[in-house]
Amino acid sequence: MVHEVVDFLVNKSSNSEDKYIDATLGAAGHSLALANYEGKVLGIDQDKRMLEIARKNIACPSPQLRGSAKLVHGNFRDIDRIAGENGFARVRGIVFDLGISSFHYQSGQGFSFQEGNNPLDMRLDPESQSVRGSDLLNSLRTDQLETMFEEALTKGESKRLVKKIIRFRERTPIKTVNDFLSVIRQGVIKKGKTDPATRPFLALRMAVNSEVDSLQTALPKAEGLLISGGRLAIISFHSGEDRIVKEYFKERVRGGYGRLVTAKPVLPSIEEVKENPSSRSAKLRIYEKI
Ligand SMILES: C[S@@+](CC[C@H](N)C(=O)[O-])C[C@H]1O[C@@H](n2cnc3c(N)ncnc32)[C@H](O)[C@@H]1O
Repeated sequence: MVHEVVDFLVNKSSNSEDKYIDATLGAAGHSLALANYEGKVLGIDQDKRMLEIARKNIACPSPQLRGSAKLVHGNFRDIDRIAGENGFARVRGIVFDLGISSFHYQSGQGFSFQEGNNPLDMRLDPESQSVRGSDLLNSLRTDQLETMFEEALTKGESKRLVKKIIRFRERTPIKTVNDFLSVIRQGVIKKGKTDPATRPFLALRMAVNSEVDSLQTALPKAEGLLISGGRLAIISFHSGEDRIVKEYFKERVRGGYGRLVTAKPVLPSIEEVKENPSSRSAKLRIYEKI
């Protein structure tokens, strides 16, 4: 939803002095589009490899854009510190495009359940994170595992899945994507439109990377960086994340600190979903600081 994000963040009163933060740089789709609108962009990504990819993408179409985009390795939960250190403490717009990029599904780190023999790692920043997905499955208590999976599964599904995980790990540690899949494939998850493995893999990835906690920590910090009239655009792919964003915006509007730019979330166009099927569950919400 690059066009939608740019349309909402860049408005008539924007000018070339304006600054923007792309808190989830990825392959730089949003950063490139924002930099094209004269603004200066700070791109942040937790995964160093994404910075390399973004650097190439930004250099390619237009070498002069290199000067208007600053790319920094870091976690958006530290967005206030990172912005301050890089001269982006007052910005007109911030975008969060949550989750992982298509690169990650082919990275051999166990994000994809189509990569059977790969280790179940799932860390976005191995330098600062020591706990892998397999570590969580092998070491958490039953109640901790159930809470973790309830992020994406029903209570019943979570309980059934955890029972099977415990039985598996009593025999041998869970190490690979195939190990985890063999547990999930025992019919513990209700069949739906997506593969039954989708939601357990999502819940595990979210736990490994503390995604909910990072988002909750980042929201007030990001709002604090906005100038008056500045906007926060957040794209989420999971109902739990969308709820956090929706509730946060509602609370700030109730307190008189800002307004919702769109009453309902903006969804991707039919064309975008056709081109990129993984965008089908995306929801974009926009908040403006008063
Ligand atoms: C959906 S992708 C962004 C795609 C990007 N908008 C583009 O145009 O390519 C999300 C990116 O955010 C990064 N990411 C996820 N959680 C993060 C966090 N807490 N802090 C910084 N980056 C994060 C991931 O490594 C990934 O590259």
